[in-house]
Amino acid sequence: MHVLAINASPRKNGNTSALIHAMLDGARAAGAETSEAHLHTLNMKGCMGCLSCRTKHGVCAQKDELSPFLEAIKTCDGLILGCPIYMYRVCGQMKLFIDRCYSLYPPKEGGGYLTAVPAGKRFALVVSQGAPGVEQYERSIRWLAGMGGSGLGLKEAGRIIHADSHQSPAAKNEALLGEARAIGRRLITR
Ligand SMILES: Cc1cc2nc3c(=O)[nH]c(=O)nc-3n(C[C@H](O)[C@H](O)[C@H](O)COP(=O)(O)O)c2cc1C
Repeated sequence: MHVLAINASPRKNGNTSALIHAMLDGARAAGAETSEAHLHTLNMKGCMGCLSCRTKHGVCAQKDELSPFLEAIKTCDGLILGCPIYMYRVCGQMKLFIDRCYSLYPPKEGGGYLTAVPAGKRFALVVSQGAPGVEQYERSIRWLAGMGGSGLGLKEAGRIIHADSHQSPAAKNEALLGEARAIGRRLITR
């Protein structure tokens, strides 16, 4: 069993990272191997719009340090997507990643999309925001869950929306960290 985390926060010791690491701890405690892509430190580019993935299904022609992680989405058992909210939306690093996921959406005859990701996987979300209301960025979070998870055929194991981060840092919130560990376990326990 393998759980892959896509960490789009530039801060390796920030809120998103603390919650992702707790999820990975939970997954490891349940017997998984884990890996993490820290997008900000990868030499990666956004989608170049070449459309080669419209004919070469499931393969992104942009070869860089994100490539092995895009491949790992097809073989992992559980996927964690984590990011902070920047300027009312998911941060730019996460948007670059989701754009690259276009390669995992082969075209469907007659319109729409299929998925290049084999069935039977689960995903979880971590979102951290400064604003206190967890509902404030609901539409952006629904978009993230759709494009990076359910749209690719993965089933959601749970999500942590960490609000009011300046008053209540995630690393000091034992209840939230415990919830994250439990979601991590659910990513691989059937
Ligand atoms: C450039 C920038 C833009 C931000 N924009 C928002 C925002 O629109 N709404 C919000 O609630 N918090 C915003 N924040 C605060 C972060 O979402 C918050 O500090 C979050 O906990 C950071 O996560 P991290 O610790 O994983 O980096 C912003 C922070 C930065 C640096």
